[in-house]
Amino acid sequence: MPECLKKYDSAPTKGRTLDYAAGVYDVLSPLMTFGQEKRIGKIAVELLDLKGCEKIIDIGCGTGSLTIDMAEKLSPAKGGQIIGIDAAAKMIALAQKKAYGIGQAKFCISAAEHLEYSDETFDCAISTFFFHHIDFELKLQALNEIWRTLKNNGKVVIVDVDTPTNIFGKICAWSGYVLFQQQEIKENIEGKLRDAIVQSRFGQFELISSHMGYVSIFALQKKA
Ligand SMILES: C[S@@+](CC[C@H](N)C(=O)[O-])C[C@H]1O[C@@H](n2cnc3c(N)ncnc32)[C@H](O)[C@@H]1O
Repeated sequence: MPECLKKYDSAPTKGRTLDYAAGVYDVLSPLMTFGQEKRIGKIAVELLDLKGCEKIIDIGCGTGSLTIDMAEKLSPAKGGQIIGIDAAAKMIALAQKKAYGIGQAKFCISAAEHLEYSDETFDCAISTFFFHHIDFELKLQALNEIWRTLKNNGKVVIVDVDTPTNIFGKICAWSGYVLFQQQEIKENIEGKLRDAIVQSRFGQFELISSHMGYVSIFALQKKA
């Protein structure tokens, strides 16, 4: 897997990057998911059915907590490696600090819509709570980039805000939109993430489960 070039600036993107929140992200993010992010992340990782030898990409990895948890399931001796990418330089700097000494976890400043990896580099991909940070056009581009860099039959698991399934979910999802004034959250609530997956080269998704009425886990697969 190619090493990430040394970069210090955030990647240009119209996505909502979180440089400004890097220092408080690990404290605030559990509040947004009522402390459920670890449990949901565990379900998402289990779906990838890791053997330890995989090359994995974590898209919009933030401060790298899930990336590091996954790295611990990989065996560097068998070639297992995970790379977390995020467009925000400060998020990546923190992730690198947290992963100090874990050689199979690498981090790179990169926009999801322009991945700097060759075709068919990764066995699988994961993305948690990232797609509500980019608009429909970037969702489509990012999904097609994931498709391009995945090997045939490679699996992807996406966890994100989705069409609410109950009143509690509706209140949480719409409150997030109002609080952050983030159009991209509204898109997800309206089902635009699902639309983007269907319009991307993946063409379809499997809805695995819904959590708290506003977070869904999707499984995708690259079929040649
Ligand atoms: C809510 S955080 C999710 C972080 C992590 N995956 C988690 O589950 O905690 C969303 C991340 O997406 C990043 N981001 C926004 N636009 C991006 C883009 N175009 N490409 C890559 N990352 C982007 C932000 O900087 C932020 O770190």
